[in-house]
Amino acid sequence: MSSNKRVLILAGDGIGPEVMRQVERVMDWLSARRSFSFDVGSGLVGGASYEAHGTPLTDETLADAVAADAVLFGAVGGPQWDDVAREARPEMGILRLRKEMDLYANLRPALVFDPLVEASTLKDEVVRGLDLMIVRELTGGIYFGEPRGVDTLPDGIRRGFDTEVYSAPEIERVCRVAFELARRRDNRVHSVEKANVMESGKFWRDEVTALHAADYGDIVLEHMYADNCAMQLVRRPKQFDVIVTSNLFGDLLSDCAAMLTGSLGMLPSASLGPADEGGNRKALYEPVHGSAPDIAGQNLANPLAALLSFTMMLRYSFGAADDADLIEAAVQDALAGGLRTADIMQDGMTAAPTDAMGDAVLGALDARAA
Ligand code: IPM
Ligand code: MG
Repeated sequence: MSSNKRVLILAGDGIGPEVMRQVERVMDWLSARRSFSFDVGSGLVGGASYEAHGTPLTDETLADAVAADAVLFGAVGGPQWDDVAREARPEMGILRLRKEMDLYANLRPALVFDPLVEASTLKDEVVRGLDLMIVRELTGGIYFGEPRGVDTLPDGIRRGFDTEVYSAPEIERVCRVAFELARRRDNRVHSVEKANVMESGKFWRDEVTALHAADYGDIVLEHMYADNCAMQLVRRPKQFDVIVTSNLFGDLLSDCAAMLTGSLGMLPSASLGPADEGGNRKALYEPVHGSAPDIAGQNLANPLAALLSFTMMLRYSFGAADDADLIEAAVQDALAGGLRTADIMQDGMTAAPTDAMGDAVLGALDARAA
């Protein structure tokens, strides 16, 4: 039986387009050999959209994203847009997509591939075999809370402010995703906040505790303050299975967790919305690395995070775990063969540009499919 999956590619700025080109090659490879294929559309986002339309995300592109079965996102931003007004900044493109598509659960796995243990700045025994999952709340908290702004007090003093706010349903739904994921992993969840200082943090802790007692007694739940979590991530990261946390803490902790694996260039992510009656979720997949303007256009970027984001799409949106496994194995093969992009380069390895890494993965796919 053949069915077409509608995928919208929003490559964005900087290295986004060049890493996405390698993903498209792998999509073509799969389409040619599998029972399903992809209807691939594309659109502009971020600075690229700003240059063309004066906005980082047009209503048309947003509608295309909502209509797609899944969105593959590259990266947005660059120094040339530093002085653009906040509403029109490239980052607003991805923030609006997250909000309007209601992509409240952001899954950021940190997985250390054996051939890359040496690329981590941490010791071998600290990171070898690491496999943790950060579930970051993505549509609430201080990123979107009101009031926010800059104003002037009666005494003439200017101030800037944002609001950290979480409702009970917002906490519940993202924590459910974390508990459900833990059931398919090692049955452990760390819930991370600052309950010692913040009202919203104490509220978060109380809500998670109640949800755990009601529905997830089989999962081991621990609470941890966010500052301690940052420290524990570099001290003993293998103590973690699933970490669930707010939007802002998740932003910080996921960059920290990413470096455990050697490079941001290796880290994929999935952003999932609520399930509809058919069990399908709106979803957007993006590498955690940004647009890396300093190396953009030079064929130096690591395409593996984007490729692994595509394998998350196969798993979470299309139920194609076998194909995801196959591509992940091909990525392992490419690394085991000694090829390294600049971000993960090590002594004795072969420096590979972006497209050569794509060639190696395709070669490994051919070999495995033969
Ligand atoms: C991320 C990024 C974004 C965020 C930026 C680009 C708005 O840092 O996805 O982690 O802060 O969420
Ligand atoms: Mg970030």
